[in-house]
Amino acid sequence: MRTDVQRPGFGPMAGFPGTHFPRPDASAARFAALQGLLSRHSVGPRWLTGPAPSTEQLEQAVACALRAPDHGQLVPWRAVLIEEEQRDALGDLFADFAMAVGKPPEEIQRERERAAKGPMLVAWVARITPGIAEVPEHEQWLCAGGALTNFLNAMHLMGFAAKTLSGRKCQHPGVARAFCGEGEQLVAFICVGTPTRPGAARCPDEPAAAWSVWKGSAKL
Ligand SMILES: Cc1cc2nc3c(=O)[nH]c(=O)nc-3n(C[C@H](O)[C@H](O)[C@H](O)COP(=O)(O)O)c2cc1C
Repeated sequence: MRTDVQRPGFGPMAGFPGTHFPRPDASAARFAALQGLLSRHSVGPRWLTGPAPSTEQLEQAVACALRAPDHGQLVPWRAVLIEEEQRDALGDLFADFAMAVGKPPEEIQRERERAAKGPMLVAWVARITPGIAEVPEHEQWLCAGGALTNFLNAMHLMGFAAKTLSGRKCQHPGVARAFCGEGEQLVAFICVGTPTRPGAARCPDEPAAAWSVWKGSAKL
C-alpha cells in the first residue's frame, strides 16, 4: 500500500469539516461547527452594515448552497446578485409594484427604500421542473430551500448575518419577470452584511418536539 498519498479523511485534516470522509467524533472542530449552525439567527437589514461579503465569499456561500441534497442534480434554484448600481432600478421596480397594487404614497416610498437595504442583496430564484416522475416538485422545492439554508449558514459561519425577505411583491408577475425566465419563480431577497447586534431566537427551539419514533403498521 502506498503511504505517500494523502487520502481524504486520514491525514491531519481528518474529521475536520469539509474533508471527504468525515467520521463521528467529539473533536473541538466538530463542536465548533455544530455551535456555528446552532447560533445562526436572522438579522434584519436595519441591523446590517458594511463590509458586505466579497465576491469570493459570495461564491463560497453559493458553493455551500450547492451542497444541499439534490435528487437528480437538477440544481432547481439560482442566486442573483443585485449590484450597487442596480439598486435604484430595483427601487423603481418596487415603487411601481406598490403603485400597481394601490398602496398609499408613504408605502410606495417605503417599498422603494427596501431596494437600498442590506450591504449585499441577493435574489433567490427557484427553477422547478414539473413532470419529472423520479423527482417530484416538492423534492425540488426542498432542495431549493436546503440550498438557501446552506447559503445562510455559510454567510453566518463567515461572520456575516442575513435575513430572507419576500413580501407580496415576489409573487407579482412584473417583479418576478425582472429576475425570472420561463418556468422560474422569485422566492425572496436576501439581505447580507456585517451585524451590528447579534441575532436572537424568537422562541426557543424544541428538538424533542420535532422528531419521534415510528410505531406505524407495515401493512399496505
Ligand atoms: C423564503 C422566505 C421568505 C421570507 N419572507 C419573509 C418576509 O417577507 N418577512 C419576514 O418578516 N420574514 C420573512 N421570512 C422569515 C425570516 O427570513 C426569518 O427566517 C424568520 O424571521 C425567522 O428567523 P430565523 O431565521 O432567525 O429563525 C422569510 C423566510 C423565508 C425562508
